[in-house]
Amino acid sequence: MIIDTHAHYDDEQFDEDREEILGKMQDAGIGMIMDAGSTILSWDKIVKLTEEYPFVYGAIGVHPDEVGNLDETQFARMERLLDKEKIKAVGEIGLDYYYDFSPRELQQFWFRQQLRLAESVNKPVIIHSRDASQETFDIIKSSPVRRGVIHCYSGAWQMAKDYVDMGFFIGVGGVVTFSNAKKLVEVVDKIPIEKILIETDSPYLAPNPNRGKRNDSRNLQFVVEKIAEIKKLSPEDVAKITFDNAKSLFF
Ligand code: NI
Repeated sequence: MIIDTHAHYDDEQFDEDREEILGKMQDAGIGMIMDAGSTILSWDKIVKLTEEYPFVYGAIGVHPDEVGNLDETQFARMERLLDKEKIKAVGEIGLDYYYDFSPRELQQFWFRQQLRLAESVNKPVIIHSRDASQETFDIIKSSPVRRGVIHCYSGAWQMAKDYVDMGFFIGVGGVVTFSNAKKLVEVVDKIPIEKILIETDSPYLAPNPNRGKRNDSRNLQFVVEKIAEIKKLSPEDVAKITFDNAKSLFF
């Protein structure tokens, strides 16, 4: 069985056939799915999915692109939603200096606030970081949070090691199958398998051979096979170990 530790089935790209796709997961060996919050509007959809599907769990948070919509009222609502049994993490939160959809100071402010919230409700975090590796690392390091995953990790292996040493997991998805993924292949090679989580970021980032198409969790087999090849393990072992890793973090 495989856990998809990061997906967005709340996304409108699944509006036409969400039920059909999610209905195929268990036969495809997908045992659990963590649906990560991105916008404030995603929260209620995620809670509903966790109520409808026994194998779907959720994270509640605001993506750095979206923090312009966050205020104290919504932040208080976020805290209440984190009380729910099937909401297992705060995420995805972090910094995105690639798109810069929100002013950087505002991104940093709400990133710190959400880290603090994770600490106070005692739940792990799901971190999004793009073109802001050092700033993300510094903010996490200066916080008390030491449980979480660096989702869709894209940095250098030395920083991955620093995260692992601090107690974090490294999230690996479809990008590892791309032909230009040298840096990520090196990270996967050097980081212990016990510190890797697998994820899709569905509907985005479909692995080869389905690159460019809408992604869903069934494509994780290609990610598992690629990691197995890099780590010289069987795909079954990669699935089992990463499943246990995710359970130890979220459950
Ligand atoms: Ni995501």
